[in-house]
Amino acid sequence: MQVARVSSAMVAFLCLAYGLSASQSPPSPKFDPAAVARGEQLLKAECGFCHGGNARGGSGGPDLTRSAIVQEDENGKQLGAFLRVGRDDKGMPKFEFTEPQISDLATFLHSAIYLAANRSLYKILDILVGDPKAGEAFFNGAGQCRSCHSPDGDLKDVGAKYDPVTLQGRLLMPRTGGPPGTPAYRYPNAVKVTITLPSGESVTGALVRLTDFEVTLYEAAASGQMRSWLRNGDVPKVVVTDPLQAHMDMLKKWTDADMHNMTAYLASLK
Ligand code: HEC
Ligand code: HEC
Repeated sequence: MQVARVSSAMVAFLCLAYGLSASQSPPSPKFDPAAVARGEQLLKAECGFCHGGNARGGSGGPDLTRSAIVQEDENGKQLGAFLRVGRDDKGMPKFEFTEPQISDLATFLHSAIYLAANRSLYKILDILVGDPKAGEAFFNGAGQCRSCHSPDGDLKDVGAKYDPVTLQGRLLMPRTGGPPGTPAYRYPNAVKVTITLPSGESVTGALVRLTDFEVTLYEAAASGQMRSWLRNGDVPKVVVTDPLQAHMDMLKKWTDADMHNMTAYLASLK
């Protein structure tokens, strides 16, 4: 997969523009933005309650961007080893994650540390590398963004609402959480499920749990209640939809150029 990398030509250009010699040039961001977005999702869901949704510390858990384990981690090796064990006596549970999940988490945490250290640089890079016109063309064409968004409607002023780094993050994964401890089914764009009973009655709500044997949803609008049904094969009928599916699908498709152009275009909407 192609990831957002800053080309050496770009770094050379920036060095000229900012009067730095090549040897002084800062390390270029090398994080796969899709992995960063996946890692952020996972962190918000699994760690956010204690460490904060941005990993900067929360109710009881320390700031992970200052953790020696995280700072010394190489590609998830040390972090993974720590998570498998945890520190139960100190209130840090252990986690069973897959290798790719650990790698995503580590990528997110490393990028958060990098950003904290190089915030102004990253902003400059971000704005300079994209072509807003090409971004606009992609928005109206191949990206199919028009089918859900409009630059004069919901995305009006989006470039003023966020700094470029945050804007790119929103573009990649716009799932908004809530205060620490908010369960995912209460997020504004929670995954939805529609249950159709043999009688023809159907109920839609936020998906809480789906197994082979049972499905549970949360009816936010109607009753604010949880409802569960036992499943027996295809009865009742269960259809799951994610309002952000288009964004999830795009995570696998973004190229360097498309993403930078789109960020530049969105940043110009103000
Ligand atoms: C129930 C609360 C809780 C949850 C959930 C939680 N942590 Fe922790 N975590 C803690 C506490 C408390 C500590 C401090 C333990 C100590 O004092 O040694 C800690 C410590 C850590 C440390 C070590 C910091 C250091 O350098 O000493 C790391 C790394 C860490 N957590 C990562 C995570 C990750 C990643 C997740 C999610 C997958 C997570 N934690 C989920 C409570 C939590
Ligand atoms: C199938 C519908 C759909 C498509 C297609 C789609 N999005 Fe979205 N997008 C959403 C939803 C839903 C949200 C969440 C809105 C919210 O939380 O208010 C969102 C959020 C966003 C946000 C964050 C807005 C904010 O204020 O935080 C941006 C930026 C965005 N989309 C850009 C794009 C771009 C660029 C494309 C095309 C590559 C695209 N979207 C394609 C449904 C879609």
